[in-house]
Amino acid sequence: MKIITETERLIIREIEASDTDIMLELHSDPEVHLYLGNKTITNREGIIDAIKSLGQQYADFGVGRWAMINKKTNEFIGWAGLEFVKESINKHKDFYDLGYRLLKKFWGQGFATESAFASIDYAFSKLKVQEIFAIADINNEASNRILKNVGLGYIESFDNGGVKHNWYKLTSSEYERKKYKYEVLDKICYTELVYGRINKKLNLELSKRKIEILISTILSETNESEFQKKGKNIYVTNNERNIRLTINSYTNRIITADRLNGKTTNR
Ligand SMILES: CC(C)(COP(=O)(O)OP(=O)(O)OC[C@H]1O[C@@H](n2cnc3c(N)ncnc32)[C@H](O)[C@@H]1OP(=O)(O)O)[C@@H](O)C(=O)NCCC(=O)NCCS
Repeated sequence: MKIITETERLIIREIEASDTDIMLELHSDPEVHLYLGNKTITNREGIIDAIKSLGQQYADFGVGRWAMINKKTNEFIGWAGLEFVKESINKHKDFYDLGYRLLKKFWGQGFATESAFASIDYAFSKLKVQEIFAIADINNEASNRILKNVGLGYIESFDNGGVKHNWYKLTSSEYERKKYKYEVLDKICYTELVYGRINKKLNLELSKRKIEILISTILSETNESEFQKKGKNIYVTNNERNIRLTINSYTNRIITADRLNGKTTNR
C-alpha cells in the first residue's frame, strides 16, 4: 500500500483492489453524484475497472485520486487528489485537475478541505507541477467554497456538456506566495533590535506590543501577490499603508520596515 502523504486527521494513500466494496458504496450513491452528471457506477465490474484506471494514472503520472483514511478509526472517508486529464475540457488538455468525493456520512467535517490542501501541497512541493485546475458545477456550493478556501482562483464559467461549471486555477508561483504568507503569519518573530528600528524607520513611538500588532495586521491584509521571495528575503509590499517589510525567510525574523516613498502616515 503506497502512502502519499498525511495530514492532521488523514492518511492519503493509493486506492487499491481491496477498496472495491467501499468505492462501490461511494460511486453508486446518487446524492454524491448530484453535481457530477449523475454518472453512478452500480456494479463491482465498473469499480474494478475504475480502480485499474486509477492504478494507470499512478503509474503514468505519479498522481490520481487517492483514498483518504481517518487516522483515528482507519475508516475510508472518500477520495481526493489530482487527475491528469488528457481529453479537452474548456479548451484545455493535459492538465492536473483537483477533485474530491466523500461518503455522505463524512460531509461537513472539513475532510475535503484538509485533503485538498494536502493534494495541492504534494503536487507543487513534491511533483513540481506548474499549475493545477479545478472544475465545479456552479450550483455545487460546497465544492466552489472549498476551491476558493484552498486558494484556487476563479477564472471563468463555461459550458460543460450543457451544464454551467466554474473553472479554477492555481499556479505554483501563486501557491508559493500564499505559502510564504501563511508561514510568515504563523511564525513571524522579532528581535530586540528590530522594535527600535521599526519605530525609527516608520517615524513612530509604539510599544513592542503595538509594533507586533501593526506588523501582523500589515501581513494579514497584504495580498499574497505582494509577497515576493528574493534570495533569503521575503518582501511584503503593502501599498495601502505605504509600507514594505523585509523578512528573513529562514528565520522568519523581521529585518526592517520601510516607507515606500519616504512619506509617513499615522495609521
Ligand atoms: C463537496 C464535498 C466533497 C464537500 O466535502 P466536505 O468534507 O463536506 O467539505 P468541507 O467540510 O471540507 O468544506 C465544505 C465547505 O463548503 C461549505 N458548504 C457546505 N455545504 C454548503 C452549501 N450547501 N452551501 C454553501 N456552503 C456550503 C462549508 O461551510 C465549508 O466551507 P467553510 O470551511 O468555509 O465553512 C462533499 O459534499 C462531496 O463529496 N460531494 C459529492 C461529490 C462532489 O460534489 N465533489 C466535488 C466535485 S467538483
